[in-house]
Amino acid sequence: MRVLGIESSCDETGIALYDGERGLLGHALHSQVAMHAEYGGVVPELASRDHIRRALPLTRRVLEQAGCTLADVDAIAYTQGPGLAGALLVGASVAHGLGVALGLPVVGVHHLEGHLLSPRLADPKPEFPFIALLVSGGHTQLMRVDGVGRYRLLGETLDDAAGEAFDKTAQLLGLGYPGGPAISRLAEDGDAYRYKLPRPMLNSGDLDFSFAGLKTAVLTLVKREGLKHAADIAAAFQLAAVEVLAAKAIEAMRQSGLDRLVVAGGVGANKQLRERLDAEARRRRFEVYYPPLDLCTDNGAMIAYAGALRLAGAGPGDGRFSIRPRWDLGELAAP
Ligand SMILES: Nc1ncnc2c1ncn2[C@@H]1O[C@H](COP(=O)(O)OP(=O)(O)OP(=O)(O)O)[C@@H](O)[C@H]1O
Ligand SMILES: [Mg+2]
Repeated sequence: MRVLGIESSCDETGIALYDGERGLLGHALHSQVAMHAEYGGVVPELASRDHIRRALPLTRRVLEQAGCTLADVDAIAYTQGPGLAGALLVGASVAHGLGVALGLPVVGVHHLEGHLLSPRLADPKPEFPFIALLVSGGHTQLMRVDGVGRYRLLGETLDDAAGEAFDKTAQLLGLGYPGGPAISRLAEDGDAYRYKLPRPMLNSGDLDFSFAGLKTAVLTLVKREGLKHAADIAAAFQLAAVEVLAAKAIEAMRQSGLDRLVVAGGVGANKQLRERLDAEARRRRFEVYYPPLDLCTDNGAMIAYAGALRLAGAGPGDGRFSIRPRWDLGELAAP
């Protein structure tokens, strides 16, 4: 079974072909970061228009990479939500257009379920059940995952997401977007202990997070110190964020008694977070799994993969479809 995956929920067009037996056959991504850069954030209308331009050329590229043609595709998966409505509509239209033309089943995928299951595209892949730390640009959640569609929220951020905190801190330090990789690079030359930043909710006794106060602390620091020691500020911020994320993930492992931790979402690409979690895992004897580095941020592969797991029962597309710009992961059920 070969599934073509289409991701277009925000500012990345991601296309991939996933084979149930052979794994990922090809994937391609176009990031709109440069296009939105001059506006300081994603412009939804520009995002939609760019998805229209990219979706089919990327699809051709992926099929070529995989040595396949459209005739080799058995089903189509697309991001149905959550995300920007206009951007989602492009992926949904392309998916259903192809579905009708080729007489193939079409399945709508929850973007976060894609992120959540993406570590299973790595080898070795985590078996269920596991604890998932989902750390992306819009979400910071700890979840217990007992199987596809069997998700229980254990804790989440009360304000900013971890990725958002990286992005806003990067902005304060005059770095570009996305902030995560830029902070991480700058922090390499910094002294994480020159400044002490708060670890919000570290001892709150629950599995929730808060990052707004950390961002405000950076703002206050930058106002006081200027950007003379920007690398030290970046390092102090990264250390504070990583410590809180790691501590809560470890607490979730302890409370659940499970021995597999899965990290997903863009912040999961952070080297320091990976090093910290790997060290804790060795010490506490649990396994930790990450998606392949290029599949941490938005991509088509995770959508194709989640689609493959959710295909059962999907009939040939009839061209009718909906998108769900707001969609709570808790509404999903097992396939
Ligand atoms: N190496 C890194 N270190 C820290 N943060 C990173 C790194 N690489 C990427 N990020 C952050 O990851 C985020 C993007 O991740 P992702 O694409 O998973 O999120 P999103 O799709 O924007 O959000 P969501 O999936 O919640 O809607 C950005 O905030 C970016 O700064
Ligand atoms: Mg995402």
